[in-house]
Amino acid sequence: MKQWIALATLAAVSAGAQAQTYPGNKPVSIVVPFTAGGPTDRVARDLAEAMRKQIPGSNFVVENAAGAGGTIGATKVAKAAPDGHTVLLHHIGMAATPALYRKLGYKTLEDFEFLGMINDVPMTLIGKPQLPANTYRDFENYIRANAGKLNIAHAGLGSASHICGLLWQSNLQSKDAMTTIPFGGTAPAMTALIGGQVDVMCDQTTNTTSQIEGGRVKAFAVTTAKPLSTHPVLKYYPSLQEMGMKNFDLTIWHGLYAPKGTPAAITKTLNDALKKALKDPEFIKKNESLGALVVTDKRSDPAEHKKFVAAEMIKIKAAVDAAGKYAD
Ligand code: MLT
Repeated sequence: MKQWIALATLAAVSAGAQAQTYPGNKPVSIVVPFTAGGPTDRVARDLAEAMRKQIPGSNFVVENAAGAGGTIGATKVAKAAPDGHTVLLHHIGMAATPALYRKLGYKTLEDFEFLGMINDVPMTLIGKPQLPANTYRDFENYIRANAGKLNIAHAGLGSASHICGLLWQSNLQSKDAMTTIPFGGTAPAMTALIGGQVDVMCDQTTNTTSQIEGGRVKAFAVTTAKPLSTHPVLKYYPSLQEMGMKNFDLTIWHGLYAPKGTPAAITKTLNDALKKALKDPEFIKKNESLGALVVTDKRSDPAEHKKFVAAEMIKIKAAVDAAGKYAD
């Protein structure tokens, strides 16, 4: 019996020691469940830089683990060692995937420690440059006139781009759903759109702003309730609500997660660093330049983060159920 007590004490002492020296000089891998170069990757790289500033000597690195609408990367982190050296940066997909996948490698509310939320990112409805439409009205009429003949790109079932396309088509109620073309992320999807290989996409402003500004894609609307009237590039586009889609109001929230069982001292270190990063002027400026808003409310607290995601899961399940044929 004494041996067991000694062993348990040793384990507790070493976990405590590890927490005190965390993260030490071992990298902290921020897993992004989509391909490099996309909107989620953008948030992660900017956050990694801001987090490094908060913990001197730390080394936050981004690791892309794409596929299956972000579920491959999320599963990887759910099953990773709970030692604070693997965290997940993910978005609305954490709430959407349980409504869309019968078999999922993780339970969103049970298999993660919630480390706080990061930002809210609007989305833009965009089309390939050859699309014969310049206003949202022309665009919508063209979609209706070509029902069943056009395709829409997204980053896999349960991705933000998939959820946006599902909600938009569900509101459009066009005769036939568009053909969906999945990619490992919206970076490759954007390349296909610019090249005219796909017709339409709904993607986050962190990925679309520069392409719209450069005239490489056509933009038609934003997904926020109100237009982004203060943004130098995005202010020219109406909101879908203004275009008649009642209650359409979609922004993509991002949060940080660690595997369940990560020691409380480590999750506290990560949340403290995150909260300071959210106040970093450079991080705020980078987000705002791309239309994104850094979280300033209580969602940066782990408990509020978890409560918010739980509520979103209920909301998104109802929307997916209502979307019917547009949900794939
Ligand atoms: C998504 O559409 O869910 C992701 O934002 C795509 C990406 O980050 O590449």
